[in-house]
Amino acid sequence: MKYYDKGDTLPADYRKALIHLLSFQADSEYAGAQRVGENLCFAPRPEEAYRLAKKTMEEYGHAFYLWTVLEDLGIDVKPRLAELRDHPENPDPARVNVINGFRRSYWRDQFQCWEDVAMMSCVATPGAVIFLGQYTKCSYLPWARASERIAREEVGHMGFGLWAVKRAIEFGGSQAWERLQRRVPKFLAMGMGMYGRPSLAGETQSANFERYYDMGLKILRPEACQAQYLELVRKRIQEAGLEWVDDVQPDYDQRMGYAMDDQELDSRLAAE
Ligand SMILES: [Fe+2]
Repeated sequence: MKYYDKGDTLPADYRKALIHLLSFQADSEYAGAQRVGENLCFAPRPEEAYRLAKKTMEEYGHAFYLWTVLEDLGIDVKPRLAELRDHPENPDPARVNVINGFRRSYWRDQFQCWEDVAMMSCVATPGAVIFLGQYTKCSYLPWARASERIAREEVGHMGFGLWAVKRAIEFGGSQAWERLQRRVPKFLAMGMGMYGRPSLAGETQSANFERYYDMGLKILRPEACQAQYLELVRKRIQEAGLEWVDDVQPDYDQRMGYAMDDQELDSRLAAE
């Protein structure tokens, strides 16, 4: 695998793919920070509010680190921030690349109480830790370095989730446990949806995935992400004192807009 660092001349195809993937993550991190910040309205105690505010700040940081990498590639990121800032309700997909999961229309249905907030970080965030963690080994070194920092903070967010679930049980007893346990399938589905569809036997991933994989811009196949996520999340659920639920189907709706569809992706790459 060939590695590139800041200022290196990049092959045209590689540069296009890199900018597409980076802008998806950067724009989505910012939208994610906006959504996490909105969840402060559910914080039940001062310490919960404080810790969620810290997580919100770190999510804005992830957008900041990645937009800095994009700026070094000659991309003007100011219009991207302006679009998200001025149209948080529904940013224009022609101007920013935001995964469906961080659009307000999707998010509102998923988050209606503090138990949802706690379970997201405890059960779904491990999916993001695995999926985004792969970029620490990617072939574009400035992205790999930013990802190291992001990965450390995301591990902290998993810790926040475990803490929040345990505290909810500590203060709310068996009723709180019931409310949390009822939410295990929903957030498992969300976590499983974060890394995309594993290919079935005899099938191959999309042409775009193979291209990214060859370029070193994707390191893990969805099958590998799934195996690592399931191992990690089983431990987290156990540590939280909750019970595993079998046969949960992944929620891929949250990835809509992630453009894994070849036709959609080709048209986006042509536009950038
Ligand atoms: Fe993040």
